[in-house]
Amino acid sequence: MSREDYISISNTSKHFGSVKAVDDISFNIGEGEFFSLLGASGCGKTTLLRMLAGFEQPTLGNIYIDGQPQAGVPPHQRPVNMVFQSYAIFPHLNVHKNIAYGMRKSGLSKAEVDKKVDEMLELIKLPGYGSRGAHQLSGGQRQRVALARALIKQPKVLLLDEPLGALDKKLREQMQLELRALQRDVGITFVFVTHDQEEAMTMSDRIAVMSLGKVLQIDSPTRLYEVPQIKEVADFIGTINFFEGSIKGKEGDSVVVDAKGLGTVHASASNDSVPESGSITVAVRPEKFNLSFQQPNVQSNVAEGTMQAAAYLGDRSHYYVQVEGRDAPVAVAAQNAQRQMETVNADEHAKVWLTWEEDSALLLSR
Ligand SMILES: Nc1ncnc2c1ncn2[C@@H]1O[C@H](COP(=O)(O)OP(=O)(O)O)[C@@H](O)[C@H]1O
Ligand SMILES: [Mg+2]
Repeated sequence: MSREDYISISNTSKHFGSVKAVDDISFNIGEGEFFSLLGASGCGKTTLLRMLAGFEQPTLGNIYIDGQPQAGVPPHQRPVNMVFQSYAIFPHLNVHKNIAYGMRKSGLSKAEVDKKVDEMLELIKLPGYGSRGAHQLSGGQRQRVALARALIKQPKVLLLDEPLGALDKKLREQMQLELRALQRDVGITFVFVTHDQEEAMTMSDRIAVMSLGKVLQIDSPTRLYEVPQIKEVADFIGTINFFEGSIKGKEGDSVVVDAKGLGTVHASASNDSVPESGSITVAVRPEKFNLSFQQPNVQSNVAEGTMQAAAYLGDRSHYYVQVEGRDAPVAVAAQNAQRQMETVNADEHAKVWLTWEEDSALLLSR
């Protein structure tokens, strides 16, 4: 049985003078989990990771790894290892020596270390690369060597601080999938820091969305996107339209809201914190709207508008629809699954209708 509180961060803060880099955070990370810290630059991701590694001490609170309090435990005595953004490998050593460097104090014989290095080269898909010079490697290969050097000591937790940040987009996407597969393979807990939401979504079991030293929401990628609990998370993950509304009451399982720009909205309450009355924000993702050029035959969850702009992007199109009662146009996205040789001419300001499902209208109270 893997433990759900393998890493436990308990009321942990880190202050630098008046800056609360990490501000009273509490959550657990499970054994074998691929867990990401996601947030804009400066939100405290690196500081939290460095506290897990033991390079920083919490100002307040405690961190436990495998049930053991980590206060006062120096980095090299923690069951963790860290991989940095810049490939921290030695340029004057070959690949074998770079990877073996992690084992220099292990007390193993040379033959034992050689065997482990070969296993690592297999794992990172660079078999036979041992005698290559570090300078003869591509960026992606160097980062794999840095990973191998961190993994050879068999840490229980690997901490990764934007390790793919320096790679170009294609290589980065390939490495994301490889890193995920490698984590599954070795089964150790990964705590991965990134400011790139697609990267976090691609790899993680769960993501903690951070802002200004706080954790806003911790959930699976799917839940963060489909059921964000607050506006800031909804806005940070992907694109979303917000509509100001006021609650009119309930009809069966759905909440009836009068929303500026959408009219009367029936929404299924996905969020426990939806109040009985008062103001509320209705949030709808662009792809959850259906767009039609004829008036649809539905009674509720329909809004009339004018096509203001359209962008054909090949696989999909983006539309911007002006609706009454809302200043900014509504963003709508549609897949272009069928081949289409004509694109929408937005200059004609065509009348259009938006429709949406009850469970696509999210109700957010803050
Ligand atoms: N050693 C330090 N001394 C003073 N302020 C720091 C130090 N390290 C980080 N900070 C501040 O703490 C906040 C969080 O930084 P950091 O954890 O590096 O964020 P992130 O990794 O999310 O970009 C920032 O405001 C940063 O300027
Ligand atoms: Mg950072």
